Amino acid sequence: MTFEATPLNDWNARQYLRFEDERTRPARDLLAQVPLQQARRVVDLGCGPGNSTELLVERFPDATVTGVDASKDMLRMARERLPRCVFVEADIANWIPREPLDLVFANAVLQWVPNHQGVMARVLEALPEGGVLAVQMPDNTREPSHACIREVARREPWAKSLASAEAARPDLPSPESYYDLLKPLCRRIEIWHTVYEHVMDGPKAIVEWFKGSTLLPYLSALDASTANDFLEAYTAEIARHYPPRFDGQILLRFPRLFVVATR
Ligand SMILES: C[S@@+](CC[C@H](N)C(=O)[O-])C[C@H]1O[C@@H](n2cnc3c(N)ncnc32)[C@H](O)[C@@H]1O
Repeated sequence: MTFEATPLNDWNARQYLRFEDERTRPARDLLAQVPLQQARRVVDLGCGPGNSTELLVERFPDATVTGVDASKDMLRMARERLPRCVFVEADIANWIPREPLDLVFANAVLQWVPNHQGVMARVLEALPEGGVLAVQMPDNTREPSHACIREVARREPWAKSLASAEAARPDLPSPESYYDLLKPLCRRIEIWHTVYEHVMDGPKAIVEWFKGSTLLPYLSALDASTANDFLEAYTAEIARHYPPRFDGQILLRFPRLFVVATR
């Protein structure tokens, strides 16, 4: 089996967008719970290729919507998609709002940012009264999809090269810890989980999904041929853990954590 080559040391917009509908659905679900009638200034943290930014533009057509991301490839795609928006290259770990914002939206990004709880508290504190911080993060590190990555990564011959890759995606802290941290800083907070059951064509589709996200730190630590062997071993494990339904399709269980805090 040979996998399609992608640049492995950076976010790749084309690979990410192979599952655009499925990846954008949680952004829609998050935005649906943002308790704002209007907004003038909106920031999309970790805007990626602009799929989440587009939802914000549709919901708040009169707002200035700014996308922030660290990946040049993602920003290039976002600028092509939404030429009238401003997109800024920055590391969220150090980002603070420079003006009063009505909404800071962060869909599927903060799980990658070290000390993301500190970032959330800092951003929330910087919002004016009534400003909203809306966050969604995959809470799937204990799912078979991720356990299989860790298990295969511990095998020879790639164990040494992949020893530090696991650290890129630690388990999310508990919902209670977000409440205790953020409630003192805001007047209203909503926290919930949604578990999606994505219908996938087969084991290789699940592998292609995670090649666009969780597998990046693993694949970037391997050369192309070793990465291919690693993906083959991972695909075999996925096939074992996700049996086909009656029609050959597979359900990818995908829990996600949502937090909407209103200053
Ligand atoms: C999974 S994508 C999310 C894209 C989009 N928000 C969505 O809803 O589908 C995560 C994005 O976060 C960006 N990212 C990850 N860590 C970052 C950081 N520390 N600073 C800025 N962007 C970061 C990546 O470049 C990538 O584009």
